[in-house]
Amino acid sequence: MCGIIGYSGNLEAGPVILSGLKQLEYRGYDSAGMALLTESNELYLVKKVGRVAALEKEIDPSILSHCGIGHTRWATHGGVTDTNAHPHCAGKVVLLHNGIIENYHTLQKQFGFAQTAVSQTDTEVAAQLIDYYYNRCKNPQQAICRAVDLLEGSYAFCILFTDVPGKVFCIRSVSPLVAASCEQGCFVASDLTALIAYTNRYFVLPEHTLLCLDRTGMTLTDLQGNPVDPDYLEVSWNIESAQKGGYPHYMLKEIYEQPEAFNRTVTPRIRNGLPDFSEEKIPDSLLQSFDKIRIVACGTALYAGMIGRSLLERKGKIPVEVSIASEFRYDPPVIDDKTLVLIISQSGETIDSLAALRLAKQLGATVISVINVKGSSIARESDYVIYTHAGPEISVASTKAYMVQISVLYLLAARIFLARGILTPEEVRTFIGNLGNAEKSISSVLEQRAEQIRHLAEKLAHCAHAFYIGRGMDYAFSMEGALKLKEITYIHAEAYAAGELKHGTISLIEEGIPVVAIATQDSIFNKTISNVREVKARGAFVILITKEGVHAAEDFCDIQIEIPQVDDFFTVFPIAVVLQLLAYYTAYAKGYDMDKPRNLAKSVTVE
Ligand code: AGP
Repeated sequence: MCGIIGYSGNLEAGPVILSGLKQLEYRGYDSAGMALLTESNELYLVKKVGRVAALEKEIDPSILSHCGIGHTRWATHGGVTDTNAHPHCAGKVVLLHNGIIENYHTLQKQFGFAQTAVSQTDTEVAAQLIDYYYNRCKNPQQAICRAVDLLEGSYAFCILFTDVPGKVFCIRSVSPLVAASCEQGCFVASDLTALIAYTNRYFVLPEHTLLCLDRTGMTLTDLQGNPVDPDYLEVSWNIESAQKGGYPHYMLKEIYEQPEAFNRTVTPRIRNGLPDFSEEKIPDSLLQSFDKIRIVACGTALYAGMIGRSLLERKGKIPVEVSIASEFRYDPPVIDDKTLVLIISQSGETIDSLAALRLAKQLGATVISVINVKGSSIARESDYVIYTHAGPEISVASTKAYMVQISVLYLLAARIFLARGILTPEEVRTFIGNLGNAEKSISSVLEQRAEQIRHLAEKLAHCAHAFYIGRGMDYAFSMEGALKLKEITYIHAEAYAAGELKHGTISLIEEGIPVVAIATQDSIFNKTISNVREVKARGAFVILITKEGVHAAEDFCDIQIEIPQVDDFFTVFPIAVVLQLLAYYTAYAKGYDMDKPRNLAKSVTVE
């Protein structure tokens, strides 16, 4: 998704903007640009396809400026070209944008903007519209307010006016923007990672408010010009926690951060051996009142939800449905005020999940969200929010966020079992004790299996296809494993219910095809192994993941990866690490950039 940064202050704006853009690279992009208002109040603008490093080479170091804006573009409307890169100019207006203006064609026709357009983007129409009103009212704030009043869709704008020196104007609807001020000046950005080098105190720009920042400070007003007080937030992050910490990639760093992320997320929510959500003010009365649960998310967060569903249904006999957020709205969902909706999202900005939240609330459901980014849009619109404490997850491939999402779902499920009398307090204490031990099983895979997996990955790197199979919870684990491999190695990987293979897909199994078979659920172990024998008999190269001590015969296993002996419900934690490392080392063997895989963005803020 696009990255935005704006600055006005005492520092040289060019380097500030550039370093901010580098911090935002993880969001995924294909071109970059910046605009500076120089000390002689000239506009200096440079933009091009490619990496921020390529943009850096184009910048004239002699330019003196203390005010500017920068952008990394993830193309939606218009191809990946220098012209379509942001910022876009119209008259005195210089603008960059994250989001989609859905009615840009209509506006283009209504105002005749096509004649003067130079790009194929929706964004340029927004710049033209603001300039149209600016020429008439000569007031930046009024011009912006009148223009956005006509816009449909999502936007986060950063705007310069070439005849208003030193000032950056910002406004948002749906797409994210955070702002901060400190002794070096005032900043605005798509997310905190671009600001953390300067301050850890920030606020989320409220939707439909107008922020004006310059080197002396910030003013925040509503669209009628009335002052608005920002809600400041603070995080314990620092720039080190957002850097690689000596690892070759953010992804590997974040894989190895999982024990501490798990501990930070789980430990504070256990009191007297029982799960405790008093901090989140989630009442037991709510957990007792609903008659079904709907879990809604995307990608890895969705697969975390599948694990949560398994636990809630298998152990608690509670009806749970898991929905893909982008499908949820068009089902249409059968939910009401007796439904508890759980929205899971690392970024808290995934637009499909945000839209699902809004629909769920319209239909009367109560929403609890599980979010990693404090103050994000989904967090702010939920009835209750349970923050995971994974810290900044920079790699596009989600690892530690998945781990802590599952840990929160386990804590919440345990609280539900307790509140509804499904388990006794003693039974819940035992469950929570097992959960606490999961941190050790995560660490044991990191310490004892990484080398074996790294060697195995060198074999996988030459494959074009791979299958991940399992039954029950093992099937849910395989969904995330296949996604991890796909998204960073570009190997076509497919997760399949092991028992379903015979109904068609086994026709794809041929000599040498790698099959990652997950067999950690004791109750169905033999069933799974019989399916594994079927693929082995057809030439598959079987990578079998089992609990320690399981004998894996040659007729169904080529490589066995063992995880610690833990209760079936808790094998997800060590297995997740195995599958993450397998994907990471396969991508490493292929020489790919697993932090910024092609076509992908860290947070999908457009539909
Ligand atoms: C997973 O590795 C991907 N980064 C992607 O599937 C991600 O999980 C999905 O886009 C959801 O993002 P969110 O958790 O920020 O909502």
